Amino acid sequence: MTKPPLRESAPLLDAYLTYTEQPSTPFTLPGHKQRAARLDVGLGVCVDGDVPLGGGLDEIKHTKNVLPTSEALAAKLWGGEWARFSSNGSTHANQAILLSMAQPGDRVVISRTAHRSMLIGLVLAGLEPVWVEPELDRVTGLPIGLEPKVVASLLREHSARGVIAIEPGYLGTLSRVDELASVAHQEGVPLVVDQAWGGHLGFHSEVPRHALQLGADAMIISIHKALPGISGAAMAVARTSLLDRARLEQGFDAGLTTSPPGAILASCDGVRALIETRGEELIGAMIARAAHLRARLKAVFGAQIVLSPVDFPAGRFDPSKIVVRTGFIGADGVAVEQDLLAKGIRLEMTDQDTIVAIMGLVDNDEEIEALAEALILSLSKRAGTPRPPVTAFSWSIVPEKVRSLREAFFAPVEMVSAARAIGRISADLISPYPPGVPVVAPGEVITAPIVLGLQECLALGTRVAYATDPTLKQFRVLA
Ligand SMILES: Cc1ncc(COP(=O)(O)O)c(C=O)c1O
Repeated sequence: MTKPPLRESAPLLDAYLTYTEQPSTPFTLPGHKQRAARLDVGLGVCVDGDVPLGGGLDEIKHTKNVLPTSEALAAKLWGGEWARFSSNGSTHANQAILLSMAQPGDRVVISRTAHRSMLIGLVLAGLEPVWVEPELDRVTGLPIGLEPKVVASLLREHSARGVIAIEPGYLGTLSRVDELASVAHQEGVPLVVDQAWGGHLGFHSEVPRHALQLGADAMIISIHKALPGISGAAMAVARTSLLDRARLEQGFDAGLTTSPPGAILASCDGVRALIETRGEELIGAMIARAAHLRARLKAVFGAQIVLSPVDFPAGRFDPSKIVVRTGFIGADGVAVEQDLLAKGIRLEMTDQDTIVAIMGLVDNDEEIEALAEALILSLSKRAGTPRPPVTAFSWSIVPEKVRSLREAFFAPVEMVSAARAIGRISADLISPYPPGVPVVAPGEVITAPIVLGLQECLALGTRVAYATDPTLKQFRVLA
C-alpha cells in the first residue's frame, strides 16, 4: 500500500506546495516574486523556490493561522504545551528560552559545554552563568554529563533560577536528565535542555527518551541536524508550569524575523509529520545502519575504535552517533578526513584523535557501506603507533572569572599578540571541538596554559571555534 503523502497531515507543508502549484501575480514581498530567473538563471535557481509566510503560506494578514496550527501539532507530538518553529536555528530558539526563564541579574546553573548561542543568550537576558563541568568517563576520558548532586548544590549555593543542560553532547553522551529535572524542580526552577543534536530522541525504544519525556521544562531541537529539515530549521517546545507562556512568546518573537522563509517553516512541519507517521521505522533503520557501521569497523580494528552504546550506562549514549577514535590505532583523523574528501565523502568533525560522522534518516545501505569501506581503507593505511586516550586539554583548565559575562561583552576591547594576551581578560569565548567546552569565556583570565594549549590544538588540526583571530596569533581582550 502506498503511504499517504505527508502534506495530508502537515498544514504548512501543504500550504507551501499549494502556493507553488497555483499561478499567482504577487505585488508583495519578497522582491524576487518567484521570478528572479527572468533576471538571471542562477539567481533564479537560488531564490525562486522561496515562499514567504505572509502572502505565501498564509494570507498577508495571517488569517488562516496555518503556522500556529502546525506549531500546536508539534507541541502535541513532543509532549509540550507550547512550541514555536524557528528559521534561525537552535541559536535563536536557545536565546528565546533564556529571555523568558528569569530576570536580569539572576543566576542560572549552566553546563560548561554550552554552545556559543547560549552564552550570547545569557548576555541578552542579563543572566549570570554558574558553570558546571560535566563528569568525565574514566575509560574514554569523555564528558558524560552533569552530576545531579553537583547541580543541586550549585542551585542552592547561588540561589540560581534555573538549570541549562546540553543533551546529547557533541559526542553523543547524555546526563541523567530525569535526575537533573528532579533537582531543578526541588528548588522550584525550570530545567532547560538544549537538545539541538537530539531531534530523533524519544521516538524509538533503543534511543534515549527526549528531554520533555524525562521531565525537562523546555527543549530546543535543530530540525536540520538529526532530522531532515532545511538548514536553520529548529524548534523550541515547553511546558508552562515553571515557564510563563507570555514570556516564552515575547522571548521567541524578540529574535524572530518578521519575514520567515516559508520553506524552512514548512520543513519543520513536514518533519514533524514524518516523525509522527514513520519515526519509529526510520529511526530504527538509522540506528541499525549505525550499528552495522560500528560492527564493520570493530571487526577490523577492535572494539575501542568506535564509541558504542555498551560503553555507557543505559540511556547515556545516542546510538546514532558515529565517533571513531583514530588515536587507538595511531591514525591521524585529519589525514583520514582528507582521504575521504578525495572520494566525495564529507565528515562532520575531525581532529587528530577523533572523527564524527553524522547519520541521517535519509542514508541508505549503499552509502553506509561506502563510508565503511572508505574508513577501513584509510584507517588501515594511516594506522601507526596507538596513542592512549588523553583527557582533552579543555578539562584541565579551571576558569578564573574576574568580570561578569555581560560586562565583558560590552566592554571596550583590543587585539593583542598571544604573548601579551597572557594575564589579560578575554573578550572571546574560545572552544576546541571536541569536546566543545570553552577553555575561556568573556570575563575570564587568559593564562599561559590556555594560550599554549589552544595553539597546540590548532597545530594538531583540531577545530578551535569562535576565536576572533582563528590563527590564534592574536587574542581579543578587554582594553
Ligand atoms: C549544542 C548546540 N546548540 C545549539 C547549536 C546551534 O544550532 P543551530 O545551528 O541550529 O543554530 C549548536 C550548533 O552546532 C549546538 O551544537
